[in-house]
Amino acid sequence: MNHVKTGIQEVFKEVYGYESGVTVYSAPGRVNLIGEHTDYNDGYVLPTPIDRYIWVAAAPRKDCSVRMYAADFQENMKFTLDAIKYNTKHRWANYVQGVAKILMEEGHSLRGMDLVITGDVPLGAGLSSSAALEMAALRAFQDLNKLSIDPVDAAYIGKRAENEFVGVQCGVMDQFVSSLGEHGKAILIDCRTNDNRLIELDPAYCVVIVNTMKVRELEDSAYNERRAQCEEAVTILQNHCPEVKALRDFSTEQLLNHWEELPEVIKRRARHVVTENQRVLDAVKCLEAGDMEMFGELMYDSHESLRHDYEVSCRHLDVLVDATLGMDYVAGARMTGAGFGGCTVNLVENDKVEKFISEIKERYFNGTAKRAEVYLA
Ligand code: GLA
Repeated sequence: MNHVKTGIQEVFKEVYGYESGVTVYSAPGRVNLIGEHTDYNDGYVLPTPIDRYIWVAAAPRKDCSVRMYAADFQENMKFTLDAIKYNTKHRWANYVQGVAKILMEEGHSLRGMDLVITGDVPLGAGLSSSAALEMAALRAFQDLNKLSIDPVDAAYIGKRAENEFVGVQCGVMDQFVSSLGEHGKAILIDCRTNDNRLIELDPAYCVVIVNTMKVRELEDSAYNERRAQCEEAVTILQNHCPEVKALRDFSTEQLLNHWEELPEVIKRRARHVVTENQRVLDAVKCLEAGDMEMFGELMYDSHESLRHDYEVSCRHLDVLVDATLGMDYVAGARMTGAGFGGCTVNLVENDKVEKFISEIKERYFNGTAKRAEVYLA
């Protein structure tokens, strides 16, 4: 981390010609262990931050201009706080602009700043580089303007920036874990009440992420379609249970009581969400009891449910998960994040990580003719 800090400060000096008053802020990407597509259904999630970050070097300005340099793209962008407009050319800029806009909408007054942005969260891999950028930028605005913002509120500001300014209808999981997570711990989040709890991960296992390197297709439209299908399920169920606000309010038994009233596809979408919420709660019990075998089983069940009921997996993700089935040193594996490409998350016995990496890469290449990338959380 320190070399990045020095590196980014040097870039700052080159780009802006000064170095005094520069502070470096950072926020991590994330991997979700279990609880997929539950956050926007008011449900439970269990992500953990990864050891990859977005860094922002920032210095305050006296006027209301924000100058930005994205070191990894070698691109500059400038905006003024009183005239924030969506930028179609430099899409990365919108995460910073969105955060600034929502902060001001929430009544915070901001001054301008000069920024350099860099990071090592793989882009477009479903590891939440955008949430990490939002949280790192927010930390810069917060510190340089002496704002006091609770970390849960910070997560919701990032979510609003993404929903209302960037135009992605995500839930709160990614920003929440980037804001409040701790390395080496999972965080159980109740996305309705915002209650959250850090839980130690079993040190005998390593969280290993495998990237399909597959470009995610139609992700946003399919994501929004899934959200709409969940809302449709709730609307139908409300005919009988007016007190229901979200799929989170249903147990599997209750869902079965009204099963025949739901259209075919909606049945499966609802079943995924309802069973996945229960799996998160069960998985937390396993973590606390040190039962990693059962935790792993729940990960495989989650994958099957995402594959067949929620239909957000893809062949590349399935090849990766299926390849682990014969590896007795892998407790569990599943797709992680929104799906349609991106990464799998694997729980691997510590002393077998090297073996896992070489075997999974080989099997993936044999199954897809593509080369996977591997990261440790
Ligand atoms: C994306 C969204 C999250 C969450 C996941 C699916 O990462 O940003 O809010 O919905 O997909 O679990």
